[in-house]
Amino acid sequence: MDDSNQAALSRSTVLVTGAAGYIGSHAVTELLRQGCRVVAVDNYSNSSSEVYARIERLAGASFVRAEVDVRDDAALDKLLSQHRVDACIHFAALKSVSESMAQPLRYLDNNVGGLLTLLRVLRKHGVQGFVFSSSATVYGDPVRVPVPEVASLNAVSVYGATKLMGEKILQQLTAITPEFERPWRVVVLRYFNPVGAHPSGQIGEAPRGVPNNLMPCVAQVAAGLRPKLNIFGDTYPTPDGTCVRDYIHIQDLVAGHVAALRHLLGDGASLTLNLGTGLGTSVRQLVETFMQVNGVAVPYEVVAPRAGDVAQCFADPSLAHQVLGWRAHHDLADMCRDAWRWQCSRPRSHA
Ligand code: NAD
Ligand code: WQD
Repeated sequence: MDDSNQAALSRSTVLVTGAAGYIGSHAVTELLRQGCRVVAVDNYSNSSSEVYARIERLAGASFVRAEVDVRDDAALDKLLSQHRVDACIHFAALKSVSESMAQPLRYLDNNVGGLLTLLRVLRKHGVQGFVFSSSATVYGDPVRVPVPEVASLNAVSVYGATKLMGEKILQQLTAITPEFERPWRVVVLRYFNPVGAHPSGQIGEAPRGVPNNLMPCVAQVAAGLRPKLNIFGDTYPTPDGTCVRDYIHIQDLVAGHVAALRHLLGDGASLTLNLGTGLGTSVRQLVETFMQVNGVAVPYEVVAPRAGDVAQCFADPSLAHQVLGWRAHHDLADMCRDAWRWQCSRPRSHA
């Protein structure tokens, strides 16, 4: 790691949107730990400000927070007039694939409209270092695995389309620098399947209602909050017939963001990178590992496949290692252990 980049990071102030959410809360904790100052923004549409006190306790540091919608340019403008920031990590978005198909305009407005407003205000304040949360969903059904960044892109859902549109908007901005303007420098991070929680058990994923994603479902069934797990299909062309994904520990994912910020603050070029482990894990493997490492039962039943699921999707993460020196360190057992610790210790208001 370049010492001057690390020094630039620990002197920096970072605007984090979607800071109270699953990934945002872990990122803020780590940024504070790295010595950064943080200006946190969220509209709490899928989270609660209660998490901030736990972040401050964990990090032993405080930060600025504001209830702001990223589509509200006046509120963002006011905030950035009060706090000078060096870079932005943009997590704020709606993320349910099924909901996006039922409410396409809401997703387009929030995710694409929100991005455009945020970029406009950032430019006004001279902040042009930007990290964008994208998703492996932009690859659709990949032609081959592991998937490299140069694979063809094909978003199937409206949610996926909002991520692809976000990437394209950012590509336009980085490709052109009008005269007398500072160039945008953007790192687009395509996350595979983030799971697990902070090892303290103090923060984690707190989905509202029935979770969409596998790991929170598994943890809630293990805790007896739901009677059984539905495994969506076991006749896929994979080794055990269930779908294969690239689960990545939230702490590794967050480390990827810190590495991206270091790169940007050290005047690094714009990049698009996969954040995954490079390992494919089946649904059945994940459930069995969870039961084994935690010594709990997860009753399950195989049901019909879920519409839109692809058989296999896992990353070629070599580019992130090459350019950022980043790679994932936690294994599936760590992910299952930390997800369960969080499930057992999470505040009742989030149960
Ligand atoms: P999350 O829902 O837990 O967090 C998103 C946060 O953004 C929430 O706190 C929500 O209240 C806030 N938010 C949404 N719209 C907003 C708006 N208009 N203004 C201000 N705040 C707003 O989701 P997450 O899992 O932490 O995801 C973070 C980002 O990562 C999202 O962009 C998501 O699309 C992306 N992503 C997530 C996954 C995943 O599996 N969790 C995978 C790939 C990409
Ligand atoms: C994983 C596997 C399911 C629940 C989604 C989004 C993607 C990204 C990450 C944001 C699949 C199976 C699940 C259950 C099951 N999010 N499953 N029973 O679908 O890979 O990706 O989240 O960007 O865009 O599409 O993740 O956790 O929903 O599912 O059998 O109750 O688990 O069929 O094979 P997915 P997931």
